[in-house]
Amino acid sequence: MFPLAALVTLVFVTASQSKIYNSVSDLPGLKYDFIIIGGGTAGSVVANRLTENANFSVLVLEGGVTNQGVVDSEAPFLVGEMLAQPIWSWNYSTTPQVGLNGRTIPYQRARILGGCSAHNGMFYTRGSSDDFDRYAELTNDPGWSWDRVLPYFFKNERWTEPADHHDTRGQYNPAVHSTSGVTSVSLAGHRWPVAGRVIQTTKELPNEFPFNLDYNSGSPLGVGWLQFTIGGGERSTAATSYLTSQVQQRPNLHILLDARVVRLVANTTDDGQVAFHRVEFSHNQSRTNLCSRFRFHLIRLFLSASLSTATANKEIVLSAGTANTPHILLNSGVGNKTELEELGIPVLLNLPSVGLNVSDHSAAIPSWIVNATGTETIQDVQGNITVFNEAFAEWNATKTGPFTVIGVTHVGWFRLNLASAIFSGFGDPSAGPSTPHIEMKFTVSRWFRPKVGHFTIVGIPQDGGFGSTGSQPGNFFSINVAVVSPMSRGSIKLNASDPSGPPLIDPGLLRSDFDVLAMREGIKMAKKFVTAPVWKGYILEETPALANATTDAALEAFIRNTAGTSSHLVGSAGMSARDADYGVVDPDLRLKGASGLRIVDASVLPIVPSAHTQAAVYVVAERGADLIKAAWV
Ligand SMILES: Cc1cc2nc3c(=O)[nH]c(=O)nc-3n(C[C@H](O)[C@H](O)[C@H](O)COP(=O)(O)OP(=O)(O)OC[C@H]3O[C@@H](n4cnc5c(N)ncnc54)[C@H](O)[C@@H]3O)c2cc1C
Ligand SMILES: *[C@@H]1O[C@H](CO)[C@@H](O)[C@H](O)[C@H]1NC(C)=O
Ligand SMILES: *[C@@H]1O[C@H](CO)[C@@H](O)[C@H](O)[C@H]1NC(C)=O
Ligand SMILES: *[C@@H]1O[C@H](CO)[C@@H](O)[C@H](O)[C@H]1NC(C)=O
Ligand SMILES: *[C@@H]1O[C@H](CO)[C@@H](O)[C@H](O)[C@H]1NC(C)=O
Ligand SMILES: *[C@@H]1O[C@H](CO)[C@@H](O)[C@H](O)[C@H]1NC(C)=O
Ligand SMILES: *[C@@H]1O[C@H](CO)[C@@H](O)[C@H](O)[C@H]1NC(C)=O
Ligand SMILES: *[C@@H]1O[C@H](CO)[C@@H](O)[C@H](O)[C@H]1NC(C)=O
Ligand SMILES: *[C@@H]1O[C@H](CO)[C@@H](O)[C@H](O)[C@H]1NC(C)=O
Ligand SMILES: *[C@@H]1O[C@H](CO)[C@@H](O)[C@H](O)[C@H]1NC(C)=O
Ligand SMILES: *[C@@H]1O[C@H](CO)[C@@H](O)[C@H](O)[C@H]1NC(C)=O
Ligand SMILES: *[C@@H]1O[C@H](CO)[C@@H](O)[C@H](O)[C@H]1NC(C)=O
Repeated sequence: MFPLAALVTLVFVTASQSKIYNSVSDLPGLKYDFIIIGGGTAGSVVANRLTENANFSVLVLEGGVTNQGVVDSEAPFLVGEMLAQPIWSWNYSTTPQVGLNGRTIPYQRARILGGCSAHNGMFYTRGSSDDFDRYAELTNDPGWSWDRVLPYFFKNERWTEPADHHDTRGQYNPAVHSTSGVTSVSLAGHRWPVAGRVIQTTKELPNEFPFNLDYNSGSPLGVGWLQFTIGGGERSTAATSYLTSQVQQRPNLHILLDARVVRLVANTTDDGQVAFHRVEFSHNQSRTNLCSRFRFHLIRLFLSASLSTATANKEIVLSAGTANTPHILLNSGVGNKTELEELGIPVLLNLPSVGLNVSDHSAAIPSWIVNATGTETIQDVQGNITVFNEAFAEWNATKTGPFTVIGVTHVGWFRLNLASAIFSGFGDPSAGPSTPHIEMKFTVSRWFRPKVGHFTIVGIPQDGGFGSTGSQPGNFFSINVAVVSPMSRGSIKLNASDPSGPPLIDPGLLRSDFDVLAMREGIKMAKKFVTAPVWKGYILEETPALANATTDAALEAFIRNTAGTSSHLVGSAGMSARDADYGVVDPDLRLKGASGLRIVDASVLPIVPSAHTQAAVYVVAERGADLIKAAWV
């Protein structure tokens, strides 16, 4: 009994000392050296690193809720359930997407401590060396080149044994990983049988689909074993790794939840210098009354009275993510002067690039019906209450089994033959010869998800809701094909009828014809993949929607009707060289033309890397924190 009692006491003491506040009136003060807006992926890192210096006081204003005890976030297998719950998201949608036949699709952004790292797909992919060398070139700062950011990848990454402790030799290259970082990264802790067929394909079709021991070396091309931000069978987020209970105990760190920053306030000196020093935020208050443009000016006045204010003596760090960072900037009067004036927002700084130049990865999912009884696919675990509950109980007790993984086993990265006649007239949007145009995610999937166990499963299918497997239950193998070096660009803008309401998110999915052609060729490559002899007797047929797409025109229709997003939006506050005539932040992440404000999140990446974006965001945050610290020693 004694150890249990001791544990209970320990938990109680830890909770009572927590520096996470739910109420603004409990905060010891409202003046800090640094105010970080958003305790998401990047914000959590910056909060940790700045408070390593006991002389710095830091306040994190997070618009979301606590990540404590959110099982859907903790258990990797429940990622679909996590994404289906609107309480942990900002409930955003895109504008009608011209490239998707005018469809509007949900656009996930997390509203929880840890940000999108608490609900994302957990893929750990760094991108190509070219991606970062291009950032160095665009910013004219070699500090963003691959060789110079590698130490920051290592500072973030803590390579970990997979949950099943299987022999990982031949599945990754230890030389390109770090075991001394913060966020756990591991190979899958449970093996879906289809993994063997994917690897066999790299032997049977090695020219088209070569094996790559480690796609995180800077040279990603080929098919490799997927690496995840998972450790000990649990999701590792920016909050679970950088804001541990020990870090939360630092007396110089305060975190306020449910604190939604509305705008930033600056002084403008006589010589026109803009100096940011204050943040206005609403707390625990519905914003439903902040609607019509008609009432907007009255509301601004009313709002000022009801908002809380916090002051930063040194710097404000804006880390609200690619959708909300420009939303806050624009509402603060930082953006295109003409457009701000049209909206009636007083102009603080004319920076026309705010919210423009955003890029993302579109994705479409060809699927095949497979000859499997359920033991080879994810079906048993998703579709059978008994098995589902057993798998959950196993994970809950020992953090092992199917709940430690998702349904994707490998990723492949490929270049297209741009010499082909269909691509004539287009340039190459990729960052260089080591950079893929196309990503494939090899997935065991099943459409039908009933309500199971004590979880309310509201029906996000494992194929990401793309609807390409049709509506019947069954066993499928899918290859999620993404255009990872897109030519399309989009934007984040304010809603003219409701500037403080949700931003207008236009990721520009498949807007460029290049991206549609790239997707078409990518799907053809995916069809080629399953012609390897190893798939005989297993792959039975294409799903009806895919089988129907027998001509290039029909394939394009399939793409435009079913494609979605990989949720990798970046670029809305892009970095550029100090003397560039565009851009939002300089290479040190300072807002151009101002002092007292840096932006540290995915929005500063000027072009989406050819990879899932969290690893790049961790690099931005780790380097950004070093740049800030260096300025204040
Ligand atoms: C569904 C999904 C799946 C993904 N899958 C992967 C994957 O498998 N691998 C990968 O590498 N990447 C993935 N990504 C992308 C990756 O997670 C993001 O690029 C990255 O986490 C973004 O980090 P960030 O710090 O820029 O923003 P976020 O992590 O979104 O952090 C922003 C934070 O700011 C808070 N905030 C916003 N507005 C305000 C405000 N006004 N006031 C106060 N707080 C505010 C938010 O609540 C949030 O906590 C995925 C993203 C999504 C959405
Ligand atoms: C937030 O507001 C609700 C009612 O609007 C109230 O019940 C709750 O106690 C408040 N929470 C805090 C932490 O102030
Ligand atoms: C903190 O401030 C003290 C007194 O100014 C100084 O001596 C010390 O070096 C500072 N510590 C750090 C880590 O900068
Ligand atoms: C999203 O919607 C859900 C339910 O509809 C609601 O509970 C939640 O507060 C909403 N979140 C935001 C940020 O508006
Ligand atoms: C901004 O102006 C206010 C009042 O005019 C002043 O108290 C404050 O020190 C100024 N802050 C900065 C950062 O210049
Ligand atoms: C600012 O916006 C206006 C109106 O949309 C547009 O015409 C103008 O080109 C923009 N300015 C810049 C510098 O992009
Ligand atoms: C977008 O970025 C490119 C560089 O990638 C740059 O040339 C262009 O001027 C930018 N446009 C805007 C509006 O910022
Ligand atoms: C669910 O799985 C259990 C245990 O493997 C099995 O006995 C049962 O028949 C399955 N139920 C269905 C409907 O397949
Ligand atoms: C998970 O395990 C904990 C004990 O570690 C227990 O309290 C809890 O009830 C379990 N959850 C479920 C749903 O079985
Ligand atoms: C803009 O805001 C208005 C008022 O709230 C709302 O009715 C409308 O749907 C919003 N437009 C978009 C595109 O979200
Ligand atoms: C399905 O697989 C079984 C063995 O696993 C095999 O006997 C059968 O022929 C396969 N069916 C088809 C249609 O290929
Ligand atoms: C088959 O393709 C045609 C267009 O080529 C489309 O109109 C039809 O909806 C498609 N059917 C299915 C089942 O996808």
